[in-house]
Amino acid sequence: MNKSQAPHPLKQRLGGRNLYLVGMMASGKSSTGRPLAEQLSYGFVDTDAVIEQLAGQPIPKIFSEEGEEGFRAMESQVLSAIGQRHSLVVATGGGMVSKPENWGVLHQGIVIWLNPGREELLRRLHADSSNRPLLQTEDPEATFDCLFAERLPLYTEADLHVEVGVEEPDGIALKIIEFLPQLLSPPVKMNG
Ligand code: S3P
Repeated sequence: MNKSQAPHPLKQRLGGRNLYLVGMMASGKSSTGRPLAEQLSYGFVDTDAVIEQLAGQPIPKIFSEEGEEGFRAMESQVLSAIGQRHSLVVATGGGMVSKPENWGVLHQGIVIWLNPGREELLRRLHADSSNRPLLQTEDPEATFDCLFAERLPLYTEADLHVEVGVEEPDGIALKIIEFLPQLLSPPVKMNG
């Protein structure tokens, strides 16, 4: 619930549409999603956390046992189930955008791309890459660049592009709330 305990006026205008946060690994989807959901009195879901809970295993283990394909299949199933629900902020895994069928669900809501930029992403990933199975290669930076180049055109399909600077997640959430009304059609007024 937001600070005043009253629902944010945007909540009504959103009409229950889910907000999907997309972006590369370490772009801050979960840390921004939580305050965003709180401000809007929305629920919060992290697709990676749901997958881990359902599989009863951490993501790296799922990758090693089921392969990337197995993980992607679970990811699509989880997204499809989430798409049946409403009023959620959803932090997605970095690769969610790569399957065309996932866009059928994503486009039912509002898609928000968080982009801290290559250097900042690499800095963050350098500090914590152990949990990222796709980067366990001989040259993680080159692997990252390949993935980023491949996904960039997909991320740009998002409805809202957020260039993340030095702000804290709370500040980014506020910035998103400030811009969201521009994506919503103005209320229709009828003269009686
Ligand atoms: C992935 C990103 C991860 C996780 C999995 C695959 C990717 O999520 O879904 O390791 O393909 O970029 P985060 O984006 O939350 O790190």
